[in-house]
Amino acid sequence: MTEKSDRQTENRNEPHTKGPWSHIIRGMWRSPLGLMGVTITTISATLLVIGMMVDLLGFFNNPYAGFFTYLILPGLMLTGLAMIPVAAFLRRRKWFKHGISREHLTLNLSDHTHRRWVVGFLVLTVINLCIFAMVAYEGYHFSDSAYFCGQVCHQVMEPEYTVYQRSPHARVVCVECHIGPGADWFVRAKISGLRQVVAIFTNSYSRPIPAPVEHLRPARDTCETCHWPEKFHGKKVKSFKRFTNSNQSKPEVTEIALHIGGRNPETDAFEGIHWHVSKNVKVQYLAEDEKRTKIARVKVTRPDGKEEEFVKSDLAEIKEDQGHHWRTMDCIDCHNRPTHVYQMPDERVDFGLLSRRINPDIPGMREDSLAVLTYQYATRKEAEARMVDALIALQTKRDPAMAKQHEADIKKGGDFLLEAYLGNVWPEMNIHWGTYKMHLGHQYADDGYGCWRCHDEEHVNAEGKTITQDCALCHDSP
Ligand code: HEC
Ligand code: HEC
Ligand code: HEC
Ligand code: HEC
Ligand code: HEC
Repeated sequence: MTEKSDRQTENRNEPHTKGPWSHIIRGMWRSPLGLMGVTITTISATLLVIGMMVDLLGFFNNPYAGFFTYLILPGLMLTGLAMIPVAAFLRRRKWFKHGISREHLTLNLSDHTHRRWVVGFLVLTVINLCIFAMVAYEGYHFSDSAYFCGQVCHQVMEPEYTVYQRSPHARVVCVECHIGPGADWFVRAKISGLRQVVAIFTNSYSRPIPAPVEHLRPARDTCETCHWPEKFHGKKVKSFKRFTNSNQSKPEVTEIALHIGGRNPETDAFEGIHWHVSKNVKVQYLAEDEKRTKIARVKVTRPDGKEEEFVKSDLAEIKEDQGHHWRTMDCIDCHNRPTHVYQMPDERVDFGLLSRRINPDIPGMREDSLAVLTYQYATRKEAEARMVDALIALQTKRDPAMAKQHEADIKKGGDFLLEAYLGNVWPEMNIHWGTYKMHLGHQYADDGYGCWRCHDEEHVNAEGKTITQDCALCHDSP
């Protein structure tokens, strides 16, 4: 008898539990790899269940705990689970070498030991699947929460998250605008999310994150889940209050009534500012630059199907090509800052004076406030360390007696300014005052932002008609 068949007979004589299957299954635990797999799976599954319970009971509110529970632990659990069959497989090869033949490796369901193993395996699999389904569900919600988007990649998202929290949309989760409904955009978002995670780990993300966001979902799919042009109407009065360095106490007030427009319920026609996004009207434009600040051509398709093109003569050579694409105007072309609303230094200082958090009775406060607010600090820490003292120093230079007398007020003003700075400037991300500007209106027209990109009397159609800058088109004259 050869050594091989010798072993086989030996095997046959052993009790059932020692059959080749049980050898193999036991072998999983016995090999170091299998043992590691079992340990990792058990520990991570236990932690996972605990983590999920704590989360569901609302005990933790820490993004890293969520990150750990819904991303790291399931990953570990899967790795551990995968190690077990791999270990068994490696062992199996070893047994083949030592003579276990393939015929022994058939499952025999009438054998009660085999049945026990199969049932055990199925039960464990069902338990694992349940855990994974729960993880996937909870993880999906967690990865869609504003908390996750804004906090997990803290350094990168801190600016957008901070300004978002004080905006009218602070209760709208990021994904409502950034992903919107539907599975295809969900998948796209998760893929680009993975790319972003890679960019963070390789430290290769852009600082600042560029605006406009090139592949943002067309806003009409997202914004219009809550707002729609049929529902806008009438006028909206806005008032702007401004001070000057020479007049810190009485604001200059400008009031305008904006022609919001939308569907006029009496005439059924679309009009006013929201005409651009109304039914059956399409406004497209071709911009020279990625920032969409220099608009070369504007094409209008009217409800009757007529097309009209307005061309800016000094950009007339820009045509649709590799680098230039027609873009259909949507909400974002005006509301580019619906929620990531960055403020401007003069706006903050004037608000401080108005609310008397900066004492307007101290001479030179507006000028000095603007000076310390717009100084180029290298880091936020440096601003925290220096801003208040810098304001006191400037005031002391101006009038030592006055500064001494009002020291407490100057400090209070300094604290307000520091808060304004920390809410808008992140030197580490290259975000300074005015890095992100809005298109609503024409305050930043000189930098190429706002309505006057098109409404500049310089875009001319075939009949010589321009896109008008007539003040009364958009609002009652100030
Ligand atoms: C009300 C809709 C809305 C919500 C809610 C929203 N965003 Fe945005 N976000 C936008 C729009 C619109 C832009 C594109 C701005 C542009 O193209 O100029 C944008 C741009 C960004 C940018 C690019 C940088 C910038 O400021 O332009 C980042 C990063 C970002 N969002 C992150 C977030 C995070 C994180 C959240 C949740 C905490 C969030 N967003 C919530 C609408 C939204
Ligand atoms: C999930 C619902 C939701 C989505 C999506 C949404 N909004 Fe809003 N939006 C609101 C609510 C609610 C308010 C009113 C907030 C308030 O008055 O406090 C609001 C207010 C506004 C306002 C008025 C702000 C102000 O200063 O009074 C504008 C403009 C606006 N949204 C534009 C947008 C744009 C543009 C988008 C798409 C990028 C968008 N919204 C997406 C719910 C939404
Ligand atoms: C042509 C530019 C433009 C476009 C395009 C545009 N808006 Fe507006 N929208 C404005 C202006 C300007 C205001 C008034 C600004 C203000 O309140 O400071 C406004 C106001 C609003 C308001 C507040 C209305 C109120 O009565 O307070 C909402 C909500 C809004 N827009 C949503 C949208 C949505 C959603 C879209 C896309 C379907 C859109 N807008 C497209 C320019 C535009
Ligand atoms: C991409 C180019 C573009 C931008 C940006 C733009 N518009 Fe227009 N707008 C047009 C065109 C084109 C017309 C139609 C002109 C015509 O009919 O002669 C128009 C028409 C209008 C009308 C008249 C609508 C009607 O028929 O009742 C108003 C009001 C208006 N725009 C307001 C604004 C405001 C406010 C902004 C900025 C928040 C703005 N537009 C930004 C291209 C633009
Ligand atoms: C294409 C539309 C449009 C035209 C044309 C237009 N405006 Fe405006 N204007 C706006 C919008 C929109 C705002 C509101 C901006 C905001 O909400 O911050 C605004 C705001 C203002 C403000 C208040 C903001 C501030 O900084 O004080 C003044 C003043 C003003 N416009 C003056 C004018 C004058 C003067 C003209 C004529 C030469 C004119 N506008 C033409 C759309 C227009």
